[in-house]
Amino acid sequence: MTNRQKKILLGVTGGIAAYKSCELARLLVQAGASVRTVLTEAATRFVTPMTFQALTGNPARTRLFDEDHEAAMGHIELVRWADQVIVAPATADFLARLAQGRANDLLTTLCLATGAPVTVAPAMNHRMWQHPATRRNLALLEEMGVRCIGPDEGDQACGESGPGRMSEPGEIAALLLGEGELFKGRNVMVTAGPTREALDPVRYLSNRSSGRMGFALAEAFHGQGARVTLVTGPVSLATPPGIERIDVESAQEMRDAVFERIGEQDLFVGCAAVADYRPEDSSPHKIKKSSDILKLRLLRNPDILAEVAALDDGPWTVGFAAETTDLERHARQKLEGKGVDMIAANRVGRGLGFEVEENALEVFWKTGQQTLPQQDKGVLARELVALIAEVMGKVNH
Ligand code: C5P
Repeated sequence: MTNRQKKILLGVTGGIAAYKSCELARLLVQAGASVRTVLTEAATRFVTPMTFQALTGNPARTRLFDEDHEAAMGHIELVRWADQVIVAPATADFLARLAQGRANDLLTTLCLATGAPVTVAPAMNHRMWQHPATRRNLALLEEMGVRCIGPDEGDQACGESGPGRMSEPGEIAALLLGEGELFKGRNVMVTAGPTREALDPVRYLSNRSSGRMGFALAEAFHGQGARVTLVTGPVSLATPPGIERIDVESAQEMRDAVFERIGEQDLFVGCAAVADYRPEDSSPHKIKKSSDILKLRLLRNPDILAEVAALDDGPWTVGFAAETTDLERHARQKLEGKGVDMIAANRVGRGLGFEVEENALEVFWKTGQQTLPQQDKGVLARELVALIAEVMGKVNH
């Protein structure tokens, strides 16, 4: 299922963390999901239904008996509509009512009536969280199959500190959108970051790639069950959990690392900004200042992606193309020229592409194309992974 097909019912209960649910709604919508919101009476003291209506494009509901809304989408229809339920924040009182199977407001009624998986993101004072009553309720909920995310530890709105902060909206969104089995049991290799082409022991030629997109993709594939090998140039990013990382510097080192393991891969995603050229000679000593002009002769580097795509019996291949002009023409040329199965093209410049948190992609394959609009690179990566799975599935069957 792509994010665009996801229907998420967001329940908001009455805690100060409710302000973070606005961001959660925004992230889910931005990722393409349809979101409908239900607020408890207490939640409306912190945030308004109007906020969620504006963010999700759907009316937010607060009451069980509401003729206007029942006429539009009745609460049972709402239950049938949702394929996931997330309650964020979930207060101690809400958890208690859910654990007891109460149906004394719209949200608990929906949670009781739904067949969809229910996730709660608790948020409360740390003493309330640690109270035996809350612990018991949590144990009951877990027994019923309710999934719990968080809470995090740290400073609390009440001025105290401890476990009870609602998980960050980005983390909750990742859990709701990113997990699945689209690549279960598959081997996926992703290249990321820039390469460095040495001029001498202290200088090199490189580019502005931060590696974020490649790392986000590695994480997204892992979230879909893949065994991921991440071959990366020099970046200052932490390795996402569960991913095997191989660090390299130059394009030639990257090529060697890729080819050592390429035979095992089902899918190769070339996200690295590989330097097209390297200095013909890398001086063993630091180059001294001498004449006014220093000429560099550069040699073409191997095109790793094209070489992988040319393998007999090689993996499915996805390349990236960073373009400033004529996006579609250049991307389609690369698709043909490199013989890859898919090209994800991004416009660089004007705050997009390199060294930034957000990106947008225009994705091309032989028989189709799709736009993935500007959004957080983590969310975008999960969208792209879902799209790759969809296109690979169509081509291979
Ligand atoms: O031709 P261009 O550099 O624009 O193509 C970009 C795509 O090719 C990216 O997927 C990049 O990872 C890959 N590439 C490569 N080896 C090179 C140059 C680019 O794998 N030497």
